[in-house]
Amino acid sequence: MNSLMKKLKIQYPIFLSPMAGVSTPELAAAVSNAGGLGSLGLAACDLNTAKEYIVQTQRLTDQPFQVNFFCHQPITATPHDIQNWIDYLSPHFRNLQMQPPASLSADFKSFLSDSSYLDLVLDAGCQIVSFHFGLPTQEQITTLKQHGVILMATATCLAEALSIQNAGLDIIIAQGIEAGGHRGLFQQDQESGLSTHALLLQLRAHIHLPIVCAGGIMHGQQGKLLLDDGASAIQLGTAFIQCAQSAASDQYRNALFQQLKTAITACISGRPARAIINDWHHLVDCKNRPSLPSYPYPYSIAKQLSAIVPTEHNDFSIFWAGANVHQIRALSPEALIQTLVKEMQ
Ligand SMILES: Cc1cc2nc3c(=O)[nH]c(=O)nc-3n(C[C@H](O)[C@H](O)[C@H](O)COP(=O)(O)O)c2cc1C
Repeated sequence: MNSLMKKLKIQYPIFLSPMAGVSTPELAAAVSNAGGLGSLGLAACDLNTAKEYIVQTQRLTDQPFQVNFFCHQPITATPHDIQNWIDYLSPHFRNLQMQPPASLSADFKSFLSDSSYLDLVLDAGCQIVSFHFGLPTQEQITTLKQHGVILMATATCLAEALSIQNAGLDIIIAQGIEAGGHRGLFQQDQESGLSTHALLLQLRAHIHLPIVCAGGIMHGQQGKLLLDDGASAIQLGTAFIQCAQSAASDQYRNALFQQLKTAITACISGRPARAIINDWHHLVDCKNRPSLPSYPYPYSIAKQLSAIVPTEHNDFSIFWAGANVHQIRALSPEALIQTLVKEMQ
């Protein structure tokens, strides 16, 4: 048992990725009860739903779990960029006999701009909190630490990892380019494009905090390599989406088993994110596209297009998945953890 496992009081060095829109209390609790660290991605939840998710998870497990929030800077998209983006996507709506929306909305709250999420964390007695897309304010960090909360944040490059370490957080989630879903990138000019393993090797030389590797891990052999090379734990998202307890739709689950390829595009939400390749990559993310309104404005129109059942000619589904999705296995959370543990031995 390494020192991170002792600190977090977990049996195995395996984390479930927090996954906004896919996370459920049942999945988080199943992973925690099986000896890993369960997670709730709460960024897409309003305050009441977030509270309900936490309370429900606490009912389902007495083991530790992490809650996760986004820390994107509150940037307002310009009306010009918004209109251009609506106009650019309008032909796809017309092809599908639908009306494009008149405006775009920002549905994802930032932990930075809504203090009620900090109050929720403290009131609910959350013990482990992680952040994506940046860091909380120094004041929020101090308050959380005064209450004994263990803090983690995603880094995609050395500069971000150093910011996390210097800000006084406890653990770095090192997210490689293979990762499904959004890149946690928060120093936009620092895109490293590093693989999970390469990022670990770079961070290991400069960072004294425990490093948890995320991105493209589907099999225990990949996990063992990372642990042998200095990671304190591994975090898996895509491998768990297929579990019955996740909130994924049937179409999403089926797509994961179709041996499809993934690629990163910023055209779905306004931030780079890895998803199964479809019309977002082929028809929307083209050289001549207009500049994107800032995150999360494009997401609201993307969700409307993605709600249309795909046909042979149109597929705007949003199926976030890591680069190694082809290695997916149909396993329950408990069986997946046991399998990973055996493969890592
Ligand atoms: C469906 C999905 C949703 C995600 N949502 C979040 C999120 O809300 N917060 C977060 O920190 N990371 C999120 N991520 C990224 C994961 O934390 C992690 O980096 C990724 O799952 C690792 O790559 P893998 O999917 O190949 O295992 C998400 C990933 C996926 C696949």
